[in-house]
Amino acid sequence: MIKEAVQATFPKMRFRRLRRTEQLRRMLRETSLDVGDFIYPLIVTHGHGIKREVESMPGVFHFSSDRLAAEAKEIRSMGIPAVLLFGLPPAKDELGTGAYDPQGVVQEGIEAIKAAAPDLVVITDVCLCEYTSHGHCGVVTKGQVDNDKTLELLAKTALSHVDAGASIVAPSDMMDGRVAAIRAELDNNGFESIPIMAYSAKYASAFYGPFREAADSAPQFGDRRAYQMDPPNVREALREVEQDILEGADIIMVKPALAYLDVIARVRERFDHPIAAYNVSGEYAIVKAGARNGWVDEERIVMEILTGLKRAGADLIITYFAKDVARCLRREAEKFYLGDEE
Ligand code: PBG
Repeated sequence: MIKEAVQATFPKMRFRRLRRTEQLRRMLRETSLDVGDFIYPLIVTHGHGIKREVESMPGVFHFSSDRLAAEAKEIRSMGIPAVLLFGLPPAKDELGTGAYDPQGVVQEGIEAIKAAAPDLVVITDVCLCEYTSHGHCGVVTKGQVDNDKTLELLAKTALSHVDAGASIVAPSDMMDGRVAAIRAELDNNGFESIPIMAYSAKYASAFYGPFREAADSAPQFGDRRAYQMDPPNVREALREVEQDILEGADIIMVKPALAYLDVIARVRERFDHPIAAYNVSGEYAIVKAGARNGWVDEERIVMEILTGLKRAGADLIITYFAKDVARCLRREAEKFYLGDEE
């Protein structure tokens, strides 16, 4: 039947008419990237005067808080509205106390960024894994990550970030009930207007490899499969998202992004909450490695991948490529703006 319909419409109908020129293609584009939708991850380290490149993530650096002002101003000047902070503390312990230390690395980082670029939206990753000696995302009792004991520490961590000036908190631990626990703690302390961006569908993924090396946060025993999601599951992702929404999440997240486009699309279909997609470290490293070998065109690949996230239904994109995208979009806009330059 479909075949007959096509025969009946051709040659009247020709798709190629609207693909003829760059201006036509531009007009008919269904999805576009906007720098205003990007969130740039930043890793804050202890120490002074540090801007150290992450080996497996060329172009990504650890910054000590005294080097953050210049970085924050640059990010702001490029039109990127938000950053997502991670911390590398000077010491780790069983209970991840560095995560909720008022003088902790992230807390100091927030202050430095807010002083340099007051209107930059500072989102903080709320988790214990960078701060615990065992590298797990929660408190370990008898060799297991103890869900309910962890909730209290996560709530404390979120509150300490907001006390330091964070604009949004983003729990990434995958404990059950963390959104409710954090919402209650913030509300009890007068922070009812601070949003929660929940890592709702976060999978136990090999794509976090370069980040764990960068953040020194790989688990010292076992893995994260008893709390992060099993990659083959999508219906379970919808239940996770629903649960986080019921607990008070304002923005929900799917992570990683590229291998989970169907999850983004299914969440988009079912819920009207804003969706963030996290284009994670492994996705970044793969593109960089391919480009460095001259095997793929980095800029085109990056734009194609990130546009795909949007097309799947993401509203916000967290990516280490945010600055590259900002530059590329600006160049594109200027190309057409100046028009008859040549
Ligand atoms: C902390 C956290 C991780 C990432 C973000 N928050 C690592 C993990 O869960 O192991 C991954 C970020 C990336 O790979 O870019 N729980």
